[in-house]
Amino acid sequence: MILTIETKQSSYPVIMERGVLKRAKEKIGREGHVFLISDDGVPEQWRSLLQQQYPDAHMHVFPQGEGFKNMRTLEDILEDMLDHGVSRKDTVIALGGGVCGDMAGFAAAVYMRGIHWVNIPTTTLAQIDSSIGGKTAVDVGVYKNCAGAFWQPDMVLVDPDVLSTLPLRHYNNGLAEAIKAGILKDPHLFELFETNDIPSHIDEIIARSLFVKKGIVERDETEQGERKLLNFGHTLGHAYEEYYGLDTYLHGECVAMGMMKMIRDDALKARLAKVLEKLDLPCACGADPEEILRLAASDKKADKGTITLVYADALGEAYTKETDLEELKGILGL
Ligand SMILES: NC(=O)c1ccc[n+]([C@@H]2O[C@H](COP(=O)([O-])OP(=O)(O)OC[C@H]3O[C@@H](n4cnc5c(N)ncnc54)[C@H](O)[C@@H]3O)[C@@H](O)[C@H]2O)c1
Ligand SMILES: [Zn+2]
Repeated sequence: MILTIETKQSSYPVIMERGVLKRAKEKIGREGHVFLISDDGVPEQWRSLLQQQYPDAHMHVFPQGEGFKNMRTLEDILEDMLDHGVSRKDTVIALGGGVCGDMAGFAAAVYMRGIHWVNIPTTTLAQIDSSIGGKTAVDVGVYKNCAGAFWQPDMVLVDPDVLSTLPLRHYNNGLAEAIKAGILKDPHLFELFETNDIPSHIDEIIARSLFVKKGIVERDETEQGERKLLNFGHTLGHAYEEYYGLDTYLHGECVAMGMMKMIRDDALKARLAKVLEKLDLPCACGADPEEILRLAASDKKADKGTITLVYADALGEAYTKETDLEELKGILGL
């Protein structure tokens, strides 16, 4: 499957194909040198598959985990790019999850004021969600994605085969974003999660999720309107992430809990709870609601006493609403 993402500056293909990592060089087909970036949690078997196709290219491997998505890692990458003589005509190739894509994409965005890059996402989260949309960033201190840029890749290569090595918790974590896409725009996608063998539908789950995100980001590249829908489950999700720090819950797990709070229809809420339980994703946690309120209200989306929240009352029927803090208290059960 090839999806073309159209943006104001450019358009680029997302090629989803089993085994495409083995054919990356042929698909990318660019002139000039490449600089490979990955992290040490990406299994060697995938890194060497890419390296074999570019025997002369340097692969910069940084330590895995959100704790390394920061300015220090960025600086190491940029210095390494300089040491290896990367020029403005060269191409960065990212091989990894959302952390690697965000880091490598940001490095490509700022190196010599921006060079080409290709993203090869290797987690469900990255294949389903973070690899398209052009958002790249690093965290600054405890502030997630605080320094970043919109910088579109030249190409995204999605190979579902690489998910075979992904630990189950990370596999399920990324599926939270697909459930979100289903609730926002694609009832059939949500229904795939109500079947008995979710992994057997993974290709369709990825493809449908990408299609939902493509439609939204093309219609609203810089988050002026519709793209805000992608924040469904995320305003409270980010508050849970900040409350617990980096080590307790993963991003998708926090989004799962955030989505549960933003559905007001009891029947849909029960369906979502069933799906989340099946995937070992949490529906709720014991976080102090006062603290979650404080964190959500101080989120960058809060403005003059109200906060833009995304609600869903039925599958495919999500909307944003300015919500005052009293109403948010109600949502948090205060
Ligand atoms: N740019 C965006 O639009 C966007 C959207 C959503 C999330 N994000 C960002 O994505 C990040 C989270 O991404 P993630 O969940 O992919 O985390 P991640 O990149 O940390 O990957 C999770 C873990 O899996 C390992 N891994 C990667 N591929 C593997 C594979 N095939 N087999 C085995 N292990 C593998 C990684 O080394 C890491 O330890 C966050 O930093 C978040 O802010 C960005
Ligand atoms: Zn997300």
